[in-house]
This record gives sequence, C-alpha cells and structure tokens, in this order.
Amino acid sequence: MKNQELAFRKSEGNKWFLRNLKKLEENSIEISLLCNWLMPFQNDINNILEIGSGAGNKLAQLCWQLNASGQGVDPSKTAVDFANKKYNQKCSYTVATADDLSFFKNKFDLVHFGFCLYLVSRNKINEVIKQADQLLKSGKFLSIIDFDPHNSYENEYSHFKGLKSYKENYYKMFCDLGNYSVVNKFSYSEKSFCFSKNENDRISLVLLFKENK
Ligand SMILES: C[S@@+](CC[C@H](N)C(=O)[O-])C[C@H]1O[C@@H](n2cnc3c(N)ncnc32)[C@H](O)[C@@H]1O
Repeated sequence: MKNQELAFRKSEGNKWFLRNLKKLEENSIEISLLCNWLMPFQNDINNILEIGSGAGNKLAQLCWQLNASGQGVDPSKTAVDFANKKYNQKCSYTVATADDLSFFKNKFDLVHFGFCLYLVSRNKINEVIKQADQLLKSGKFLSIIDFDPHNSYENEYSHFKGLKSYKENYYKMFCDLGNYSVVNKFSYSEKSFCFSKNENDRISLVLLFKENK
C-alpha cells in the first residue's frame, strides 16, 4: 500500500488541481445550500477551516456568503499558491494534510471537509476525525461533502496506481464520538441532484452540530 498522504503532497494534489482548474466554479450549489442551512447562525460563524481546500474556491464562497474569515489546508503547493493569490480577501491557505494540523493554535466555528475524507489513509482516518474535532469549538458546526454509500467500499484511485479511494459514511464517524447531532442531510449523486438508488453513486452534504458539553 502506498502512503496516500505522501503521494498527495508529492504529486497527486498538484495533479488534481491541474486536472480540475478548467472546471473551477465560484458559485457551487452545494456550498450555497450549506450556507442557507447556516444562515440562521451566521452571527456565530466568524472563522472557517476547510480541510482539503483544493483551489480555494469553495472556502472563499463559504466565507463570502457567511461573512467570515477562512483558513484552508491542502497537500498541493500549487493549489495553495493559486488560492493564496486568487482568494486572499478573506482567506489564507497552507500546505498540510488532514492528519497533521497540530500547528493550528486557534479553534474554528465551522470545519468543512469537501471531498477530502475519501482520500485519507485508513490507518489515519481516526486521527483525522480526532484532530478535526479538536479544532472545532463546542456549540459550532462541521460539514462534510463526500461519498455516502450504504456499505463501505475500497476502490482503486483511478489516477494513480496503488492509491485508494474509500467510500464510507464519514458523518457517522463524528456522530460516533457521542457529541455530534445531524442538523441536515442532502443526498444526491454526480449524475443528478437527487437521491441515487445506486449506493456506489451516492454523495451527501451533511451538516453536524457539536453539542455543548
Ligand atoms: C476532490 S478534491 C476537493 C477540493 C475542494 N475541497 C473542493 O471541494 O473543490 C480533494 C482535495 O483533497 C486534497 N487531499 C488529498 N489528501 C488529503 C489529505 N490527507 N489531507 C488534506 N487534503 C487532502 C487533495 O489535494 C485535493 O485538493
């Protein structure tokens, strides 16, 4: 098994960014939906962390719509440099992977994972969940956009032999910590903006609330 985190730092993060640069959208429907869900709590959300921030556009949209400041992390230096140039009004971006976030000294009002958890090594996933939880204030929110199958799947990552993509119910991993409640869940797929009967195609946007202790 290849070290996924190392591969994304060395090459695969940059390659993802370059493959997707042409499709870069500044007004994502999913992010708008998430902002609608969060609008009643807008005054509580001053700083946002996106883990796996890619080109930086989704974090910039979140910060713009919720009037907050943002920090993004991604293993791709090319993506981070791009994001720091293009979306630097309310946001800043740093090269890092989701398992290595101990350099943050502050906590956040919203932590967002946008299609990043499916790329995390399985031997690191518990640590990633733990670190994200530690970086989120109690009484605040965590959102996840990712695959959402009924059963777990491990597939070959189609762009690099030896890497995997993992389809699991990531929001349940946070709920299993015991102090997260589901606020909203929207199920869809790449093919249509509604629930898919095929669990392998299923994607969801989930908003969680971290209960006050
Ligand atoms: C599918 S892209 C999504 C980018 C962005 N969040 C979006 O929604 O457009 C996945 C991103 O996760 C990053 N990534 C891969 N492994 C990661 C890890 N272990 N920690 C943090 N980010 C990672 C990749 O470099 C890539 O930018």
